[in-house]
Amino acid sequence: MMLLEIAGLETFYGRSQALFGVDFAMDEGEVVALMGRNGMGKTTTIRSLCRLTPCRSGAVRFRGKNLEGLKPHRVARLGIGLVPEGRRCFGNLSVMENLLVAATPGPWTLDRVNRLFPRLAERRNQMSNTLSGGEQQMLAVGRALMTNPALLILDEATEGLAPVIRQEIWAAISMLKTEGQSILIVDKTLKELLKVVDRCTILERGKSVWTGEPSALSDDIRDRYLGV
Ligand SMILES: Nc1ncnc2c1ncn2[C@@H]1O[C@H](COP(=O)(O)OP(=O)(O)O)[C@@H](O)[C@H]1O
Ligand SMILES: [Mg+2]
Repeated sequence: MMLLEIAGLETFYGRSQALFGVDFAMDEGEVVALMGRNGMGKTTTIRSLCRLTPCRSGAVRFRGKNLEGLKPHRVARLGIGLVPEGRRCFGNLSVMENLLVAATPGPWTLDRVNRLFPRLAERRNQMSNTLSGGEQQMLAVGRALMTNPALLILDEATEGLAPVIRQEIWAAISMLKTEGQSILIVDKTLKELLKVVDRCTILERGKSVWTGEPSALSDDIRDRYLGV
């Protein structure tokens, strides 16, 4: 059974159609990139699969279960941990409280998250709205891990961060990969992204147009769909 199967996804914002047929699937333990230029539908695909912006047609199956009709918190409870674009934490909670409210039994505990991101341990009693952007991003990843997700989704998790912080996030991602964590990633840093992913799906104007391994991503395809 596949971990995640997305077929024929069409999603609208009011009357405006954003997705015109997105298809891709991932296996347990795979790390998959969702790629494409700005505005091509990456975030909308993620929001649709988490049912934050439900699709109008098409299907999302997670471990064989159709997610149709589920509320986002139910999807989260099935084992999908989202680090959304723009890293939202509860600003009026401390770092430790932010992590603890997300806790679900499993291998990821407060201790382990603190070992992964020692900066979070140093700042454990600080209100999260006083953290730097990079620390907030680590907290957002830490919170998602505290839910012990079967699938971790990272939407632009390194966007706008200082280079050293980006490196810490990428190091955490490769560590998670070696532990067999399934991850769906959107990120603009192609060099780092292609080092860590097993497969890529490219979106163009709300449609999936190419799927393959990073080694098959030719200059022609990069040129046509990624603008690099
Ligand atoms: N909240 C929204 N309301 C209306 N249109 C939106 C909204 N969010 C995104 N869109 C539109 O949907 C399309 C896909 O956007 P998005 O999924 O955010 O792309 P990406 O994440 O690939 O940059 C774009 O045309 C964008 O303008
Ligand atoms: Mg986006």
